[in-house]
Amino acid sequence: MALRINPSILASDFANLEAELGRIANADLAHVDVMDYHFVPNLTLGLPVVERLQQVSPIPLDVHLMIDDPERWAPAYAEIGAYSVTFHAEATLEPVKVARSLRERGARAGLALKPGTEVEPYLELLPEFDMVLVMTVEPGFGGQSFMPGTMPKLTRLADAVKASGLDIWMQVDGGINDDTIAVAAEAGANTFVAGSSVFGAESAAAQVDHLRALAAR
Ligand code: DX5
Ligand code: ZN
Repeated sequence: MALRINPSILASDFANLEAELGRIANADLAHVDVMDYHFVPNLTLGLPVVERLQQVSPIPLDVHLMIDDPERWAPAYAEIGAYSVTFHAEATLEPVKVARSLRERGARAGLALKPGTEVEPYLELLPEFDMVLVMTVEPGFGGQSFMPGTMPKLTRLADAVKASGLDIWMQVDGGINDDTIAVAAEAGANTFVAGSSVFGAESAAAQVDHLRALAAR
């Protein structure tokens, strides 16, 4: 069973992003958190910076858009070559339209759900997506604690994906570390975002391998 470890560069040194990407060259994808001060109460980086990261990164980019108006902004991230682009269900009335605009441009399309968002309305849309991100913290900040209450929703989705036979990655993001990754794996996740746990380690690469081993057990 394939699994992926995607370190979040939100926890890295923003003054040295190219070097920080080099520390996680053994990971699967680099998770890039785009925040706009509107959808979440925090601001990170946007298209010009992500475009440069895409050019220098040794591994593909997994862009997580925590922004309003993904109809307008998401396609541009696919156009600059991001491997995966995820937008929030709560930010749009037209998730299918956005997903199709991403796939048309060659990116995997991801749908993110905040901890309080119900999954049922989205189950019938699964064929439009390549990944579902179940947020395991409220989006906006790194270093928060994993919310175990999100696990039933993850399992509900993972079961639906399995039943469909579709190749849809199940991602978790927020508070993933040595103590929580196995819980999320057990509940059905196969794609793990980890920020502070990876970049806070002395050897980020060793921590990526460690998390991978814990998730695979
Ligand atoms: C939070 C971001 C996460 C964040 C995770 O809104 O989406 O990707 O960087 O950080 P940790 O792993 O520290 O909880
Ligand atoms: Zn994220």
